[in-house]
Amino acid sequence: MTSPTKKLFLASLMIGACLTAPAFAQEAASQAAARTPAASDRALSAAARADDLVASMTLQEKLAIVHGYFPPMAKPNPPIAMIPSAGHIPGVPRLGIPTLRESDASLGVANQVEQRKGDTATALPASIATAATFNPRLAYAGGAMIGAEARAKTFNVLLAGGVNLTRDPWNGRNFEYLGEDPLLAGVMAGEHIRGVQSNNIVSTIKHFALNSQETGRHVLDARIDRAALQESDLLAFKIAMEIGDPASVMCAYNKVNGDYACENDWLLNTVLKKDWNYKGWVMSDWGAVHSTEKAAVNGLDQQSGQELDMAIYFGQPFEEAVKAGRIPMARLDDMVRRILYGVINTGLMDNPVPDSAQVIDYTAHADVAQRAAEEGIVLLKNKGDLLPFAKTAKKIVLIGAHADVGVLSGGGSSQVRSVGGAPVEIPLTRGEAASFARITWHASSPLKAIQALAPQAQVTYIDGSDPKAAAAAAKDADIAIVFAWAWFTEAQDPESMALPDKQDALIDAVARANGKTLVVMETGGPVLMPWVDKVPAILQAWYPGQRGGEAIARIIFGEVDPSGRLPITFPTSAAQAPRPEPVGLGELHAAEARRDAGDKTNYGQSGGVRPFSVDYPEGAEVGYRWYAAKKRKPLYPFGYGLTYTSFRYANLAITGGASLKVSFDVTNSGQRAGADVPQVYVQGKSAAGALSYRLAGFDKVWLAPGETAHVSVTVDPRVIARFDETAPGWKVDAGTYPVAVGRFAGDSVLSGTATLDALSARP
Ligand code: BGC
Repeated sequence: MTSPTKKLFLASLMIGACLTAPAFAQEAASQAAARTPAASDRALSAAARADDLVASMTLQEKLAIVHGYFPPMAKPNPPIAMIPSAGHIPGVPRLGIPTLRESDASLGVANQVEQRKGDTATALPASIATAATFNPRLAYAGGAMIGAEARAKTFNVLLAGGVNLTRDPWNGRNFEYLGEDPLLAGVMAGEHIRGVQSNNIVSTIKHFALNSQETGRHVLDARIDRAALQESDLLAFKIAMEIGDPASVMCAYNKVNGDYACENDWLLNTVLKKDWNYKGWVMSDWGAVHSTEKAAVNGLDQQSGQELDMAIYFGQPFEEAVKAGRIPMARLDDMVRRILYGVINTGLMDNPVPDSAQVIDYTAHADVAQRAAEEGIVLLKNKGDLLPFAKTAKKIVLIGAHADVGVLSGGGSSQVRSVGGAPVEIPLTRGEAASFARITWHASSPLKAIQALAPQAQVTYIDGSDPKAAAAAAKDADIAIVFAWAWFTEAQDPESMALPDKQDALIDAVARANGKTLVVMETGGPVLMPWVDKVPAILQAWYPGQRGGEAIARIIFGEVDPSGRLPITFPTSAAQAPRPEPVGLGELHAAEARRDAGDKTNYGQSGGVRPFSVDYPEGAEVGYRWYAAKKRKPLYPFGYGLTYTSFRYANLAITGGASLKVSFDVTNSGQRAGADVPQVYVQGKSAAGALSYRLAGFDKVWLAPGETAHVSVTVDPRVIARFDETAPGWKVDAGTYPVAVGRFAGDSVLSGTATLDALSARP
């Protein structure tokens, strides 16, 4: 038997039971008319309306809603209409309960391996680029844009809101997340979700919790102190949920302290549902369910993508368990109520998605993608003010990374088939991601964009495969721009942080040939930069989305001031990080060797990787806090980023007592207009006793030369509090707290202290 991995996903595209959109029409028409009176009463609370529906449902209707199809592999009998996408859960037309059509949507409405031929969507930059904007308004705008496209494409549940903290610089999925800081990641995820749901559709938040590496994600046991998890990853989730109120939480693949996240009583029942009083539903990740009773009793409400699990645990076995009383009927009702609560509370019930595709304003949406790309690009180095570059340049040479046709994107379930298509697509031959990812470039040509802004220049491209040829081409150019790339993907971690494809040698050769060399990095996170001292300028462009080429060009020529800041620390080498390489690589390689030797055992999604543990002894001291604690000076710190102008900070005022407020003035002291991201760091003490500065607030201000803005930040006390497991709750001790205002973690332009009262707060 073939293992139920996403491999079959590829093989079965466009066959089986996947029908087309018009088939929905009849179902949608019948939805509108048939609700129960109380369920359609908008004056009642979502909870009351959900209760009424649950009371009106038959056992079979309830059972049907707690598990969902993975359309590419589903074979329902009789066939039903499904869009080829991540998920489908049939509704209950007689009660007006909508069919749930699920799509991945971290960076746009996804269409992995073009399973829906020709269905393009707007591709935002990678989430980490959005985090680098430090601009919550852009996170909201991106979410709102994706939600609008999803609705117009008849999707109503978006698998968005990835907020796992970056604990290791090499995690393959860092590009899909929002960095290493709980406040920044939580705020940005919350705004993104709020944007998605502003379209009266459902967003998830994911992956709950501690899915911090991809290697062995289906089998690994992530081990961490509970209070430390509360102070880090769970705090990011909590902040995001307070802002975005997602209708659904997606539990992760991995185990957390011994139990799979999707059957983890502490995570789901105690933290999420009891302590946080979460009213929505917990859906599993695709292929993350391992049991029926344990999962149901411990808090999972819905099995997603059921064909990817070893069994349809929430199908027949679930029905038998309910009938035998092993799963109480009250628990089934609770599961259904939670799903309906989310559907009603987001407004989806009252505003069903259209029954056929609608026209989308792709031009307006491309602007959203471009703004995020422009504000997310980080200027890491600019020696001798190489940038902004004069448009009067005569000769510009672009080297590498297919910069003639496009910009790279990250891989996996978030893959968008962007408007304009994919000028380069490279299939994978090996590895966990091979079944559902291709190395994909979006059609946004830096070459064309640069040529458009410097029409008099001769702009040429050379592919960089031969460093000597590249150096020769670069030699007499006014500027040589090397586009460096490293492709990261879901399901795999890069085994080295070095740039692939001998790019270090390429950069080296070009930098030797031309002193005016700019390196534009298209990577999902930090990579090794052995050439850092040899080039005068570096732009971190991440995966910049479908307008990335234009955004890069506009930054290069100073049409916009670079205003991105690093949402993760860039270490000098992986050895500086808590774990220098993915844990479990040995297990992964052993499993690959067994498969190569002909082992055909069905290992489910684990692909034969044997279980192992990953310890997170750094606990809450994630990212910059780790580097500070270990006194390791990174290459570029969290929060770092240069501009084409300069900013002065003055007039720090701190008020303490029951609530900490920090205010100060920011003045543009340079010659050009620009944006600054002033950051407030306050020292807190964790439950584990670690003293560390934490990002306690930030702002983004646009200022003309000479202009001053007054910035005021009210600090969320949880950022500096310790989590007391016994209460449970947050505790701030009365005392004096050092405060620093700076440009990045560890910087202190202004400093002072706050005297705070003791504070306790619920989780
Ligand atoms: C990913 C999720 C995604 C789901 C559905 C999983 O492999 O971890 O983030 O939403 O697939 O495609």
